[in-house]
Amino acid sequence: MKESVRCAEELLRFIEACPSRYHVIAKLSERYREAGFQELKERETWSLEWGGSYFVTRNDSSLIAFRLPEGGEARGFHAAAAHCDSPTFQIKENPEKSSEQYVTLNVEKYGGMIYSTWMDRPLSAAGRVAVEDPDTGEIVSRLVDIDRDLCVIPNLAIHMNPAANKGMEYNPQVDLQPLFAIVGKKGRKTLRELTAEAAGVLPEEILGQDLFLYVREKGRFLGPEGEMILSPKLDDLQCVYALTRGHRECAPKDYITVCAVFDNEEVGSGSSQGADSTFLEDVLARIGEALQVSASRVREWTASGFMISADNAHAVHPNHPEKADPTNRPFLNGGIVLKFNSAQKYTTDGMTAAKIRSLCKKAKVPCQSYVNRSDIAGGSTLGNISTAHVSFPSADIGLPQLAMHSAVETGGVKDTWYAVKLMREYFSE
Ligand code: CO
Repeated sequence: MKESVRCAEELLRFIEACPSRYHVIAKLSERYREAGFQELKERETWSLEWGGSYFVTRNDSSLIAFRLPEGGEARGFHAAAAHCDSPTFQIKENPEKSSEQYVTLNVEKYGGMIYSTWMDRPLSAAGRVAVEDPDTGEIVSRLVDIDRDLCVIPNLAIHMNPAANKGMEYNPQVDLQPLFAIVGKKGRKTLRELTAEAAGVLPEEILGQDLFLYVREKGRFLGPEGEMILSPKLDDLQCVYALTRGHRECAPKDYITVCAVFDNEEVGSGSSQGADSTFLEDVLARIGEALQVSASRVREWTASGFMISADNAHAVHPNHPEKADPTNRPFLNGGIVLKFNSAQKYTTDGMTAAKIRSLCKKAKVPCQSYVNRSDIAGGSTLGNISTAHVSFPSADIGLPQLAMHSAVETGGVKDTWYAVKLMREYFSE
């Protein structure tokens, strides 16, 4: 099997193993541990050694891993960041709502998804619950994946809404509440009971929850040659996979390599664990303190460092080629996408683009460019939010995909492997 196909296969299995952002961080922690990284706790004192590899998580939903070069000195930080959250629906407190013969779940949207794509497909719920540890009395979290076809958001039949194909306006509180059960059967399990069962606790032990819907379909290959992939959450787990894999696989030479996976990008990053938090600056400062170098030295490492912000990019759409910029046209399987925006939504400029292009050349991977059409505002990402806290020279990249924020998204089979190769080059400098 070709390396790129094997890599795409691994990506799809990784996404499948991560039904929620908490599962992403748990899975990454496991992989970093297996690769010999030592876990640090923010609440404890750190003792670090040159040549060591470490990671730390915040809120079970963001992670920063770093590696120190051998030899007692570094030239700077080489950082990269991506996000682990994706648009979904969060299950509210007291979610079950009975009406006539039906029980629906009361949910609210998380992030900006394409609503219609979430309808008429099997959904389940995953996330975490908080319980009191019987021994210590401390509040601890437990991962939850109900892991069964659990609910569905049914469309209204076209006979009842003849205008359905003329464009539909959705009211999230009305049109997007999933059907969970049919009333009638005595002794039916409640969502809370199913959640407790999946978490291995008793229903009455659950004191808090962060539960989200997820799409049950597994990622797959598509096309006559299997040249495409179709999977939930390519944005941004494709980048998360590539960044963290490249990071784990490469011992640093001259730089302290840092890989950050942030939560809450899809809702603006403004949480205590998102890109707009102190997480990254806290970790970098603590690296300096634990190595007993001055705060000025840490700032020198930032100034001589670099940050790659990685979040997926829009490929030219087959049915709407006119939506793409006339001269910057990324395609699936065309390689790394460098993203530009004069309003600084993307951090890339001439100097930092040159750095990425030079890395791509060394890694022998193709590089394309993305700019919004001048009459389309476009989205935002985490790079410029993070560099407002830690002001690295930075570039925004992504992998080309179609249907961003659909329940299932389409990508190219080769691009994940290109990103892994780029990250290996970057992290071994
Ligand atoms: Co994204």
